[in-house]
Amino acid sequence: MNVIRAGDLTKTYATDGVEVHALMGVSVDVEAGSFIAFVGPSGSGKTTLLNLLGCLDKPTSGRLEVAGSDVTRLDRRQAAAFRGARIGFVFQSFNLIAVLTAFENVEYPLVMVQDRPAIERRRRVLELLDAVGMADQRDKRPEQLSGGQKQRVAIARALVTRPELVLADEPTANLDGETAYTIIALMKKLRDEVGTTFVFATHDTRIIGAAEIVYTVEDGRLTGRQELP
Ligand SMILES: Nc1ncnc2c1ncn2[C@@H]1O[C@H](COP(=O)(O)OP(=O)(O)O)[C@@H](O)[C@H]1O
Ligand SMILES: [Mg+2]
Repeated sequence: MNVIRAGDLTKTYATDGVEVHALMGVSVDVEAGSFIAFVGPSGSGKTTLLNLLGCLDKPTSGRLEVAGSDVTRLDRRQAAAFRGARIGFVFQSFNLIAVLTAFENVEYPLVMVQDRPAIERRRRVLELLDAVGMADQRDKRPEQLSGGQKQRVAIARALVTRPELVLADEPTANLDGETAYTIIALMKKLRDEVGTTFVFATHDTRIIGAAEIVYTVEDGRLTGRQELP
């Protein structure tokens, strides 16, 4: 089964009358349970592509099905509900909520989309914070954490609902070697145990080495596909 089916996606940004053709015809199918990476230079369109796949933005043209739904037809509210229920995001900029502690940031998606008892939420949040090595920092707010620590909280938050699809934009950019490997191993484990699909945009050779399929992105197009053993 394909969790993503994208056909001939284009995205053109128009700012101050200037058009930027960020994607120029991207077609890609992603099988459920795969571990794939989009790799390419800065400005090649990786973030734009992840934003479309995650229903954060709409393509200018093309077809896009996520988990069997034609997501180009969803309005903003429907897209937000769809995302909350099915997709986990790790953003380049973390997007943690400043007034919430690390614990509360990770708990937030469980409160918003899943009606779970508090005791079960607490267990799940602590399990994830522990897995990313942040359990002892759980009462700190984002401003009290380093870039790498915020990144780990953001990763725990993306995984806490056990989404079927996780989209991660440069998720290990701020992490030291040991932490990056621990987190990649955690993601692989989730994939193996729960069947979560992971889609990365990255330059990080540690992720590229762990991916099973690597797509090369250049100037808004997919120019290469490599299957790794
Ligand atoms: N919101 C936006 N408005 C206008 N141009 C944008 C916007 N986001 C990205 N771009 C442009 O689209 C192109 C692709 O950007 P992006 O998807 O961020 O690439 P990458 O993630 O590979 O660095 C770049 O030329 C970038 O400047
Ligand atoms: Mg980017």
